[in-house]
Amino acid sequence: MKQRAKIGTDLARAITLLRAGELVAIPTETVYGLAGNALDALAVAEIFRVKDRPRFDPLIIHVASRDRIEDYVIDFPAGARRLAEHFLPGPLSLLLPKRSIIPDLVTAGSPFVAIRVPAHPLTRELLAQLDFPLAAPSANPFGYISPTAPEHVARQLGDKISYILDGGPSPVGVESTIVSFAEAEPEVLRKGGLAVEEIEAVLGRPIRIRAHSTSNPQAPGMLKSHYAPRVPFRVGDLEQLAREYAGRRLGVLAFQQALPQLPLERQRLLSPTGDLAEAARRLFAAMRELDEMDLDLILAEWFPEQGLGRAINDRLRRASVRAAGE
Ligand code: TXA
Ligand code: MG
Repeated sequence: MKQRAKIGTDLARAITLLRAGELVAIPTETVYGLAGNALDALAVAEIFRVKDRPRFDPLIIHVASRDRIEDYVIDFPAGARRLAEHFLPGPLSLLLPKRSIIPDLVTAGSPFVAIRVPAHPLTRELLAQLDFPLAAPSANPFGYISPTAPEHVARQLGDKISYILDGGPSPVGVESTIVSFAEAEPEVLRKGGLAVEEIEAVLGRPIRIRAHSTSNPQAPGMLKSHYAPRVPFRVGDLEQLAREYAGRRLGVLAFQQALPQLPLERQRLLSPTGDLAEAARRLFAAMRELDEMDLDLILAEWFPEQGLGRAINDRLRRASVRAAGE
């Protein structure tokens, strides 16, 4: 077994490893990524292996700046260009027709590639010094909660990779919003760190949001059960759930207020002031903390279905699916 991954800020070391075809965990503003050379099919295969990820689930590629996008796509439609100008670098991935230089393994055989320009300064510097893009899924074992701190990566993948680039806690905290330009009309494939309302404001019209599906892995967004803690997870009205599950050892994931009848140390309040961006930033770390306690069940409540609340609700819904036995 490889020695436990080092956590540090040594860019030169990360560059050397990536140039040698090895993997490095990298910070982004959304979540930490498990990065490898996107143009090297062997490095990409290693990403799937380390994550234990099925090969039908494609990877996002990361480039240093907006100018680099056209190196990897054969068409950059006006709508996509407008979104890129407004929001990149930032928590947005664009699905565009790929150039053949991108290995089919990256896109799971699809002619479209998801591409983004991360906003984290350390990773932007890293990308600027590489002459290839980085394929990087979230740096967690397939199906588990995405990491928003270097320690999260170390705990789960630390014996499988040698270096974790430390960029501190991820400031956005949920994955990028994915917008597809594969059809005539753009479509949101995954709700994420860029609010759908902001996208609509720039496009000047409403955008379709794809429903998730397990039955159609092409429906590339995401699998229905995902981000799942090990402890069973239920979402709904907290008071009612607490009554229903009275007698069990319960944890609580709440927006602003704790449940008075349960011990505070088993509850996480994502934003006492009601700030959805703060709640998104804290969501995954709070889910992990609760998951590591000795609980029978984690109870969560729905967030307002607006702004980043939509991405939070999406993650809560999928965290609860496995528990529901689907
Ligand atoms: O914020 C993020 O996007 C993070 C950071 C590390 O950049 N990455 C991330 O990657 O969340 P990952 O692999 O956990 O999720 C990528 C999802 C895939 O599950 C898939 O649903 C969609 O993006 N995707 C990627 N490439 C695609 C493609 N060619 N066609 C359709 N969907 C794609
Ligand atoms: Mg992921």
